[in-house]
Formats: sequence, structure tokens, C-alpha cells
Amino acid sequence: LTGDAAAGKMVFAQCRTCHVTDPGVNRTGPSMAGIVGREAGTVEGFNYTDANKNSGITWTEEKMFQYLENPQRVIPKTKMIFAGLPDAQKRADVIAYLKDPS
Ligand code: HEM
Repeated sequence: LTGDAAAGKMVFAQCRTCHVTDPGVNRTGPSMAGIVGREAGTVEGFNYTDANKNSGITWTEEKMFQYLENPQRVIPKTKMIFAGLPDAQKRADVIAYLKDPS
């Protein structure tokens, strides 16, 4: 399953109500700048739940792929209230976009 970054930019419209890709800009959710490969709960200045902060997750592509299908299943008690992306292609696409948003 290969992600398409251009398609992923469109998928990210669903995330943009809470997240932006500009570094250092936190909204309802933390900045997504550099998220792929990053340790969970480490965006400077964002007030995470303990559940997210102490999840022990590193946001590899594989882990993000699982998380975005159903965030509450991967991090119970997260405050990311988002139903998830049931479509695997859309998940792959948004991850491809987040690897190099521009
Ligand atoms: C956390 C991605 C949609 C609100 C996160 C994290 C990721 C992520 C990877 C973990 C960040 C970290 O550990 O540093 C996405 C993507 C989305 C999306 C790709 C769209 C497909 C949303 C939406 C909302 C939201 C729509 C608001 C309604 C949050 C919040 C957190 C978070 C509040 C922090 C969770 C906590 O501390 O428990 N998101 N998100 N996200 N997201 Fe999203």
C-alpha cells in the first residue's frame, strides 16, 4: 500500500480543524510538523493527556497507520476525539503527506 502525498493533503482537511503542519503551532491538537518518526507526546508546549504522553509509542508509519484507523483503540483515554479513517488508502496517503508537508 503506497501513500500518495497529494491525495493525503486532501485527507488532511479532516485533521486541519485541530492540527496544522507549521512547526510550533498547536491548536486543539499538537503541531504535525515532523510527526512521522517522533516519540508520542513530545511536541513542545502542547498539553497532552497522560494517556498520550505515557503511551510509549513512536510514530513510525506503521504505528500511525494503526492509530489513525481508530485512535481510541491504540490510545485509550486520548482526548483526540476523531472517529478515525477506516479507508486504509486514505491513512497511507495522509501519512505520506505528513512525511513532507509543504
Ligand atoms: C493527537 C494525528 C485528527 C485532536 C494526535 C497525534 C497524532 C494525530 C499523530 C499524536 C501526537 C503526538 O503524540 O505528539 C491526527 C491526524 C488526524 C487527526 C492525522 C486526521 C486524520 C484530529 C481531529 C482532532 C484531533 C479532527 C480534534 C477534533 C487531537 C488532540 C490530540 C491529538 C487533542 C492530543 C491527544 C491527547 O493528548 O490525548 N493527532 N489527528 N486530531 N489529536 Fe489528532
